[in-house]
Amino acid sequence: MPLRPYIVGNWKMHGTRAMLSEARAIDRAAQRHMKVEVAIAPPYTLIHPVHREAEQIVVGAQDCHDQESGAHTGEVSAPMLADAGAKFVILGHSERRQGHGENDALVRDKAQAAFNAGLRVIMCCGETEKTRDAGRAVAHVKKQLKASLPEGIEDAAEKLTVAYEPIWAIGTGKTATTDDIAEMHGEIRKLLITLFGEEAGSEIRILYGGSVKPENAGEILSVTDVGGALVGGASLTADSFMGIALAAGETEEG
Ligand code: 13P
Repeated sequence: MPLRPYIVGNWKMHGTRAMLSEARAIDRAAQRHMKVEVAIAPPYTLIHPVHREAEQIVVGAQDCHDQESGAHTGEVSAPMLADAGAKFVILGHSERRQGHGENDALVRDKAQAAFNAGLRVIMCCGETEKTRDAGRAVAHVKKQLKASLPEGIEDAAEKLTVAYEPIWAIGTGKTATTDDIAEMHGEIRKLLITLFGEEAGSEIRILYGGSVKPENAGEILSVTDVGGALVGGASLTADSFMGIALAAGETEEG
């Protein structure tokens, strides 16, 4: 049974309690689109409030620390996220890799900490424009992904999701061509089968992220091996976010 399309909103550093009404609207709409799994990753401060109110959508976080607890001022651990109601965590986002100096080894340790706390992981990978122009996008992404994943993940199809986000497509309005997405997702699929075996490797959802909007979602989500979308800007209003979820549901029916 293939898993449902997975549409995840990454709110990044957007959202005060005033945004809870938007989360409620997303939750109500998600109840009418059960063929699609809808999730949002708000800022830390909104995880518990969204969790308390949501009936349908799943709530997650955008990062976690690699230790369970300790003298780490300003940090939040995976067990704390689980305690607040988070069910998953996005890790290895390019804004953390580039903006906060996170390397593959640290991202891998964070993923292990998240699994230990019972969280699911959305593992991000992606290349810069320079790397793509140099013809090294596929090799770069495969190396980055392999080095960022812990070994021996149990129930990998359930617990792990991969998000391919070309860095040059994030927040720019540019998207990769469907041919490039198909090539990259196909290569990621092969890697996942090598790492986790035929059964789990074929089922793990591979999301596309980078300027996904209601207008381009149908085309992107119908590409082979695209199992959903990781959405930034367009996830901040229920209207545009659920427009993407609707496109995912239609792809599923078709
Ligand atoms: P945008 O949808 O705003 O391009 O952001 C994509 C992203 O980084 C999601 O994690």
